[in-house]
Amino acid sequence: MSAFLEGKGRSVLILGATSSVARALAAEFAACGYELFLAARPGEDLDAVAADVALRKRARVHACPLDALDFDSHDAFWNGIVERVGESLAGVVLCFGYLGDQAKGQQDPDEARRIVDTNFTAAVSLLNRAANYLEPRKRGFVCALSSVAGDRGRQSNYLYGAAKAGLSAYLQGLRNRLFKAGVKVTTIKPGFMDTRMTFGKPGLFLVAAPEKAARQVFRALAAGKDVAYVPGFWWPIMSVIRCVPEFVFKRLKL
Ligand SMILES: NC(=O)c1ccc[n+]([C@@H]2O[C@H](COP(=O)([O-])OP(=O)(O)OC[C@H]3O[C@@H](n4cnc5c(N)ncnc54)[C@H](OP(=O)(O)O)[C@@H]3O)[C@@H](O)[C@H]2O)c1
Repeated sequence: MSAFLEGKGRSVLILGATSSVARALAAEFAACGYELFLAARPGEDLDAVAADVALRKRARVHACPLDALDFDSHDAFWNGIVERVGESLAGVVLCFGYLGDQAKGQQDPDEARRIVDTNFTAAVSLLNRAANYLEPRKRGFVCALSSVAGDRGRQSNYLYGAAKAGLSAYLQGLRNRLFKAGVKVTTIKPGFMDTRMTFGKPGLFLVAAPEKAARQVFRALAAGKDVAYVPGFWWPIMSVIRCVPEFVFKRLKL
């Protein structure tokens, strides 16, 4: 059995634990015996997610309040996690994200900033801390949900896409930095998923169920992948999209 699948005595921190994919991922980790630290904005949702996975999987679960945009709280949040996990933290999975409203973000600097800060700046702030914990211990993993939207900027969502592109580049550099220490860094690039984020949005296609996506994320982690498109068919699709010359691409209505 891969060491990754033997979670007994080890813990995992999931940031953005109320996301549909994170809920399903928490169940996958719990089934392997991991103790779970589930971080999300405080409220009924977080309590319900924590209670649900604890009950269904007989897992040890801790609900940890976190507003990713409250940068001043990151130090206290992280120190609190380290105090509770001690040496047991095997890895961190970052699932929070904010699609936002592209049209609004073009006019409203606060919306633009919220999109960039949630998907990029807050992720960097928290994953830097995770990296600094794991690097000297020479083990573990960091995983984050980026997006295929970061592979090419499109007029319909380039604020979100730019932030996810930044996140993907950050993870690439982090992987390069932590390779020597034996810490795995996995970038997940999901295509469309059927979650709260996309509910009611027009123009979606090849939409994946969050449970299926979570299984694929978990398998990518178990296999120690660097980058995984979820589902896998997005890799050839994005390879083609990336190859379209800019003088053609800029004329498309995407
Ligand atoms: N759905 C898709 O088609 C798709 C495609 C590509 C990539 N992704 C990425 O996949 C990840 C999971 O998204 P999802 O599809 O599962 O959507 P989701 O269910 O809407 O999850 C988004 C999560 O982000 C959390 N969040 C947003 N702002 C936060 C903040 N300031 N502090 C803490 N948590 C915050 C939300 O928490 P609240 O419950 O408090 O709102 C929610 O749990 C995201 O990173 C998303 O960008 C999604």
